[in-house]
Amino acid sequence: MRISRSIEDQLKNASWIRRMFEEGARLKKERGAENVYDFTLGNPDVEPPAEVLDALRRVVSSARPGSHGYMPNPGYPHVRERIAELLRRETGVDFVADDVFMTVGSSGACNVILKSILDPGDEVIVLMPCFSEYPFYVTNHAGRMVTVETGADFLPDIDAIRAAITPRTRAIFLNTPNNPTGRVYPESTLRDLAAMLDTLESRRSSSATNPTSASSSTAARSPRSRRSSATAPCATLGRSRKASPASASVTSRSRHT
Ligand SMILES: Cc1ncc(COP(=O)(O)O)c(C=O)c1O
Repeated sequence: MRISRSIEDQLKNASWIRRMFEEGARLKKERGAENVYDFTLGNPDVEPPAEVLDALRRVVSSARPGSHGYMPNPGYPHVRERIAELLRRETGVDFVADDVFMTVGSSGACNVILKSILDPGDEVIVLMPCFSEYPFYVTNHAGRMVTVETGADFLPDIDAIRAAITPRTRAIFLNTPNNPTGRVYPESTLRDLAAMLDTLESRRSSSATNPTSASSSTAARSPRSRRSSATAPCATLGRSRKASPASASVTSRSRHT
């Protein structure tokens, strides 16, 4: 069967992590599992607790009518409410169930977000070195990946990010603890980034409402880009309320998959 050129290319460049995982499996067979340290996929090195296995068994054997049928696309409302409650507690941001969309893993979440916010050619900023699947996530939705190097300590370089933002920027991928560097971004870095984005956004919205004060780059913007600049210069998770690092960007939890 003929497949599309983009999928053909993606298969050619298929996940390096998966390839390394398969190489690890081959080496384990050849040299014995005890002689190979496998840091490829983020598989836990402990088995699930008995309570988790019991709960899974209970759910699978449940005969409650409808319990194995379709659910609403964003997930069960009571689950979304519980997650929102957890997020409120952990972040102090006023999340509600409507802000939560359940997905199978982080890849699904990143793809849902990018599909929701990208028009063809819109830009997504990715901090380097990056998780090797990010380029696929962006091109899956006709976006353009704009790479920004991190500093020597692998922390986000706020000035470099600011310089990379254009009227077509729709999201910044932030990933902490970072895969692949392991760097945990301190709160101060996230606050600095959020402050920079806030400043940029308020400058843009004031020049959009007061065109005479527009800077040269603002004046050159197309109507399309002016429209996008009226919203946050990056993806928002759910409705934007209080500015917070969590609401300012596409975030992705780290594991090594
Ligand atoms: C930074 C990052 N994003 C996304 C993913 C994909 O996560 P999932 O397997 O939950 O889809 C991973 C997995 O390791 C990751 O490290």
